[in-house]
Amino acid sequence: MKAAVVHDTDQVPRYDEFADPVVGEGRVEAEVLASAVHVIVRTIAAGRHYSSTTKPPFVPGLDGVVRLPDGRRVYAAGAQPPYGLLAERVALPQGAGVDVPEGLSSATAAALVNPAGSSWIPLSRIGAEGRTVLIIGATGTSGLLAVQAAKAQGAARVVALGRNAEGLARAAELGADATVTLSDDLAAPLAEAAGPDGAYDIVLDYLWGAPARAVLDALVANKVDPHRPVRFVNIGNLAGAELAVPAAVLRSSAIELSGHGIGSFPLELTREATKAMFAAALEGKLTVDFEERPLSEVETAWDLPVRLVLVP
Ligand SMILES: NC(=O)c1ccc[n+]([C@@H]2O[C@H](COP(=O)([O-])OP(=O)(O)OC[C@H]3O[C@@H](n4cnc5c(N)ncnc54)[C@H](OP(=O)(O)O)[C@@H]3O)[C@@H](O)[C@H]2O)c1
Repeated sequence: MKAAVVHDTDQVPRYDEFADPVVGEGRVEAEVLASAVHVIVRTIAAGRHYSSTTKPPFVPGLDGVVRLPDGRRVYAAGAQPPYGLLAERVALPQGAGVDVPEGLSSATAAALVNPAGSSWIPLSRIGAEGRTVLIIGATGTSGLLAVQAAKAQGAARVVALGRNAEGLARAAELGADATVTLSDDLAAPLAEAAGPDGAYDIVLDYLWGAPARAVLDALVANKVDPHRPVRFVNIGNLAGAELAVPAAVLRSSAIELSGHGIGSFPLELTREATKAMFAAALEGKLTVDFEERPLSEVETAWDLPVRLVLVP
């Protein structure tokens, strides 16, 4: 079959021949309709993700929309390396997949689930209703969806924080109540953006590194009411893999640090969350910006500064 193939983790994947998927026991072969190049897909293809030890040659692609042998169109993940969904066909666990509702295109569903789930799942676990939510790195695909997910789940106020003016404007268009530009001293702008009580309940962080530290310092400077803890959830680390947090930050404020990613939550939650996200997308509450290209263009399209969806 044809697939995007990683021959060398220092180079972009090539459109190439790859062995047909092996359909072992408990698996079915499915026709891939669309699969997105998320940040994690790029990181795995470059041999740099903590969840992957696969060596080249392999087919990247974590999730996507497929046509099952019974004709159903479902969103699914779960290919076994060296196979992935940036291919014409894939073998998936029997029973895997969430039906994609009519009215939602395969490309949109493929683009949506991974970035939207990164906020939808932690927000629904914590409970966003009536809360004030801060998104660090709100200007990317996942951050912009986090703004919308918080609103869709009933957050009272959503504040978008980032460095990219165009991205912050898009966050406002998509529902952010206030936007703040990243800087070293965020105490005053974050207090003002939070609204009359100046407090946050939930922080979703896509950046880590210096921006996350600046937010922690600002929260401490602005005082956190011990009766109203701040749930700080790290989701990505585009601004740095490491962060030094003084012990005093945690002891002098009711900040609860946690993370969301593969290994931090029961994966079964993804199925219900996916159904809920599809429903929200159909209601116009979740919009994802992406560009669709044929899979055969993988090599030239790979580095485009957009969320790419490849269609075999
Ligand atoms: N744990 C999960 O379940 C999960 C799921 C999805 C994504 N993620 C992670 O979340 C992160 C964001 O993903 P994404 O889908 O939003 O990526 P994306 O669409 O590529 O967007 C990245 C955004 O981050 C901004 N950015 C990058 N480096 C920055 C820095 N040093 N300071 C300030 N802003 C910076 C970029 O702004 P510029 O345009 O100015 O560069 C861009 O707006 C990634 O680390 C990804 O792996 C985790």
